[in-house]
Amino acid sequence: MTVAATTHRLHLKTNRTVDLTVDGQHVRVPEGSTIMKACQEVGIGTPTLCYEQTLTPVNACRVCVVEMEGSRALVPACARKVEPDMVIWTDSERVRHSRKLVLELLASSVDLSYAPDEVQGYLDHYDARPERFGPPDTSDGAVHRDHTQAGHHIPTTNGYAATVAQPPKIDNELYIRDYSRCILCYKCVEACGVDAQNTFAIAVAGRGFDAHISTEFAAPLPDSACVYCGNCIAVCPTGALIFKSEYDMRQAETWDEERQTETDTICPYCGVGCTLRLHVQDNRIVKVTSPMDHDVTNGNLCIKGRFGWQFVQNRARDTGVEESVGTS
Ligand code: SF4
Ligand code: SF4
Ligand code: FES
Repeated sequence: MTVAATTHRLHLKTNRTVDLTVDGQHVRVPEGSTIMKACQEVGIGTPTLCYEQTLTPVNACRVCVVEMEGSRALVPACARKVEPDMVIWTDSERVRHSRKLVLELLASSVDLSYAPDEVQGYLDHYDARPERFGPPDTSDGAVHRDHTQAGHHIPTTNGYAATVAQPPKIDNELYIRDYSRCILCYKCVEACGVDAQNTFAIAVAGRGFDAHISTEFAAPLPDSACVYCGNCIAVCPTGALIFKSEYDMRQAETWDEERQTETDTICPYCGVGCTLRLHVQDNRIVKVTSPMDHDVTNGNLCIKGRFGWQFVQNRARDTGVEESVGTS
């Protein structure tokens, strides 16, 4: 195999570097970098679902796998650290086949209709055909998913694809949990745990296909340890966790991201001064996020910044002051 002459170098934070080859191109990266980072250095993208720059990689989705010479198994690019003289192939037949199957299994069992366009792009790129597993089986009582027991999986109806279909959990006014859209990427669990919030209100319950995200004893959110920071919503890649405001607008078919503007401002509630990103449609705030690349908040907020914005657009009713959200 020919190694291309181009050598790519980083602005190094340490003196130690690792040389490796990615798709025939030589790359030098700081020791401790991931294969994904090395791929980025030579302009090679890898699809990701469970990876998030602000979270510890958990290798849950396996859509980023690459082929490493000398390794029996494909390795996750988002988590595997580079080693000297590694030879990586990101677009081999084996890699494409694996990514395609992962995407097919996910798309056949999970409702991805709220997922970003990028995810549909992955399905198209790898020619994923989830329909080959049969039409979705929604007959096996999704209501039971919160109470499944290890070893008691209900078999799927013959010829139908098993799904995680279930009704959305609407138990508070701030956000909705619709686990029929959940790909079990673990991001919300990590954000609620040691990577951000340290509240541990949610975890993975069940085993195998019955594994699912749950509060303790499947308690409704108001009865759980949740503090409504919404940091789980911020990292959810499929829309399984969304603002109640977004949910209601989607139900009313008025949600339209093309008509929305985004404006950064500072949270008015305390001296920390988190950056808020206001998503505004028709001159009304429809949700609030925070930039992931902000070096103080890393996309995280507390309940006040995330959800305490209704007062802005209720001013007219309460005071007679003309309604305004400061954007247009
Ligand atoms: S809103 Fe915050 S506390 Fe509640 S489940 Fe999500 S991350 Fe955990
Ligand atoms: S709810 Fe969202 S963030 Fe949590 S595991 Fe499911 S897809 Fe991932
Ligand atoms: S993005 Fe690497 S395993 Fe999910």
